[in-house]
Amino acid sequence: MVKLKSKFVCQECGYETPKWMGRCPGCNEWNTLVEEIYDKKNNAKIIQGASSTYKKLKEVRIEEEERTSTKINELDRVLGGGIVKGSLILVGGDPGIGKSTLLIQVANNLSIKDKKVLYISGEESAKQIKIRADRLNVNSDNLYIISETNMGLIDNVIKDLSPDILIVDSIQTVYHPDITSAPGSVSQVREVTSKLMNMAKSKDIATFIVGHVTKQGSIAGPRVLEHMVDTVLYFEGERHNAYRVLRAVKNRFGSTNEIGMFEMRDKGLKEVENPSEVLITGRPLDSAGTIVVPAVEGTRPMLVEIQALVSSTAFGMPRRVATGIDYNRVILMLAVLEKKAGLQLQNMDCYINITGGIQIREPAMDLGIISAIVSSFRDKEIDTETITIGEVGLTGELRAVSLMEKRLLEASKLGFKKAIIPYSNLKGLEIKNIDIEIIAVKNINEAIEYTLGR
Ligand code: TYD
Ligand code: MG
Repeated sequence: MVKLKSKFVCQECGYETPKWMGRCPGCNEWNTLVEEIYDKKNNAKIIQGASSTYKKLKEVRIEEEERTSTKINELDRVLGGGIVKGSLILVGGDPGIGKSTLLIQVANNLSIKDKKVLYISGEESAKQIKIRADRLNVNSDNLYIISETNMGLIDNVIKDLSPDILIVDSIQTVYHPDITSAPGSVSQVREVTSKLMNMAKSKDIATFIVGHVTKQGSIAGPRVLEHMVDTVLYFEGERHNAYRVLRAVKNRFGSTNEIGMFEMRDKGLKEVENPSEVLITGRPLDSAGTIVVPAVEGTRPMLVEIQALVSSTAFGMPRRVATGIDYNRVILMLAVLEKKAGLQLQNMDCYINITGGIQIREPAMDLGIISAIVSSFRDKEIDTETITIGEVGLTGELRAVSLMEKRLLEASKLGFKKAIIPYSNLKGLEIKNIDIEIIAVKNINEAIEYTLGR
């Protein structure tokens, strides 16, 4: 007979104790200890109803995953080519960014394709959802709505309806009646997600879970949720800006770092098929402090405009503001400019911005940041048909960046004539079919000389 014992495990740091405590002695967090049941003999965790079999790795057969298209290209690509049967997909993002809007559009597209879709909302009433759906022209026959937060009742509805696709909006509002803690707490989120996971896997229901992002920028019950699901997507963007980026940060069925771009219109989210065009239209053509950089997000090149404004500090400490780009990277570039290019920036405010409200985190943007700052500092504009790309090291040297051909091709497609790139990128570069003049430079001083003169 299997003898069971229970222990309490901290959900934040993994500290184990035989007794429940309010505060974890390991990490001093409150209410993070959760009871887990173990087999006393070999200390294996017991999951009710589960049994395990093993086989040789050689004997495991791979079947091509059956994927369903959402009919939204940008989303399909981020998912790795469509929705995989029985997969669990977490969609995270700030409140009001458009998660519900995206998922109701997905629900509509899928239900038109004869998939039975159940949309569970714990946040809005059926009426509110209807109002939104009308605005988005959603009126499919196969789309079912329920406004419910009790997991027990939701379970019954799922058994009764047996949908192909399930959408839970949001995980923080749903609670399991057997657990006493409040909805949204670590143990609730964990229990409900594990229930949904069992259902998804055993009945082949592809499940979308909406998760709100906390102030610290992670989804509540972070480790628990992200580990349990197959795919984690983040929906990001500035609320006052129309553009939204959907980013895969984990994907068991595709590559991560892939992004999809959307625009929020008054009739819902619209795909942006050519982000480069959108992001650089309306660019000022005769101003100092702007340059275009071919960034790469996932596998896709994207031209973005970096703007800089350098002005003398009125009083006290100079201000440094970075929007859409890593703040620490900007500080680093300012330091490199002071030390290696002799720019006097100590009494200057510096504002750096990527237009369009998107976030780019590549170090390949470095040379763009440098060029924009120097251009604004000298109040001298950079040729509008020139792009620049390269990572900058601490000694001011330029380092090679990946996927250079893709970047150059995208730039030449959009009419750019000259590219300033790191010298170390020249080796093996295939540019026969790309109509763009290449200027290879070794450090920031050479780069500045080419773009702005001495
Ligand atoms: P919503 O999907 O409710 O955000 P979330 O579920 O992530 O909290 O989106 C809300 C915002 O989107 C709201 O401010 C209004 C705006 N919106 C539009 O601009 N157009 C539309 O067609 C819809 C449905 C919403
Ligand atoms: Mg919502």
